[in-house]
Amino acid sequence: MLLSFAAFVCAAAARPPVHEPEDHFSAVNDPEQVRSAAIKRLLEVFGMDDPPAAHAHKQQPPQYMLDLYNTVADANGVTKVPNLLEGNTVRSFFDKLHSEQVEYRFNLSTVARTEKVLTAELHLFKLRPQAKLKQHHFCQVSVYQLFDTSRSNNTQEKKLLSSRLVPVHTTGWEVFTITHAVRSWMSDDGSNLGLRVTVRTLGGSQMDMKAIRFASGRSHHQSKQPMLVVFTDDGRRSTTLENTGMISATSGLPHAPLAGSPSRSARSVDYSEEEGVSLPCQRLPLYVDFEEIGWSGWIVSPRGYNAYHCKGSCPFPLGQNMKPTNHATVQSIINALKLIKGIETPCCVPEKLFSINLLFFDDEENVVLKQYNDMVAGSCGCH
Ligand SMILES: *[C@@H]1O[C@H](CO)[C@@H](O)[C@H](O)[C@H]1NC(C)=O
Ligand SMILES: *[C@@H]1O[C@H](CO)[C@@H](O)[C@H](O)[C@H]1NC(C)=O
Repeated sequence: MLLSFAAFVCAAAARPPVHEPEDHFSAVNDPEQVRSAAIKRLLEVFGMDDPPAAHAHKQQPPQYMLDLYNTVADANGVTKVPNLLEGNTVRSFFDKLHSEQVEYRFNLSTVARTEKVLTAELHLFKLRPQAKLKQHHFCQVSVYQLFDTSRSNNTQEKKLLSSRLVPVHTTGWEVFTITHAVRSWMSDDGSNLGLRVTVRTLGGSQMDMKAIRFASGRSHHQSKQPMLVVFTDDGRRSTTLENTGMISATSGLPHAPLAGSPSRSARSVDYSEEEGVSLPCQRLPLYVDFEEIGWSGWIVSPRGYNAYHCKGSCPFPLGQNMKPTNHATVQSIINALKLIKGIETPCCVPEKLFSINLLFFDDEENVVLKQYNDMVAGSCGCH
């Protein structure tokens, strides 16, 4: 763990004051306590209160989620296409009914009430027809939301969500948008009776469900299971010091800086080298290994990532390669002139920050893709 008092001093000097007493280190000096507080704090950075239960994952992550992850992230989890995802969270759910009928139900209990549902899709795998259907080339596939007529004054048993013509003889994934249903389930969990799918001929008559079949969770390979994919935004943009101060205040945790929280720990100046020849401010590797942290049981990808850190001195004169702010330039001049006592050189800190993506199993073994801002130092400068 990179616990450096010098780093803390630099961070405090570089940022506007936050509501943090400065004696956290003396308050938490038992190494085990520091470790557990630090891991807890790191979980908060990743938007969790507790680590997901470590299941012996029987399920493979859905191929769709793996493909999505590889589309937005490189091998280290770093976002390679910014703004490709509208929100910052994508969740996949498997059907809980396993019905032989074309009915599906998904348990959305892991979605926080505060998350904004942007889009929800039902993914069904259409199997090859068992019978020859010479007279039909297309069928009308419709997805309905089911209601409990006894529960409200709703006399409607089902509501049409999405309907589309599908070629009879094709096989593969069919995707239906069902955002409104998921939004209504989010606002009233008890109303979630699931979905029903009907298949009709173009003339409107019921089609033989033996002919047009969708894979079910019960009798087909798990890679073809019916799946709900929900795109949400949890409203978290970045873990600024102001925000984390608030979260920690409510959870009553000690504030221990930690490797892997680059906005804090990477603000280091190597004071030990102050007398000798200190390296100029530069970006150096800082590998955050999820296995070492004990998270490899629930994180699918990546195994870890390079957060980088910024290290080195920022003495007068600051070259343009140090990307100094005007403020840093003036501070370095005041420091060099020794006009005022106790004015340090500016801090070597991350200048650009990149986001990373995590693909992981949640408590209910759903696979989740989440994007976290400001996790990787892209460049360093004197600020
Ligand atoms: C959904 O999952 C949660 C957590 O396992 C459980 O408490 C709840 O009863 C489930 N809801 C339904 C409708 O099955
Ligand atoms: C059903 O309708 C009655 C009369 O219109 C009303 O008093 C009652 O609150 C309604 N119930 C629900 C669950 O909406």
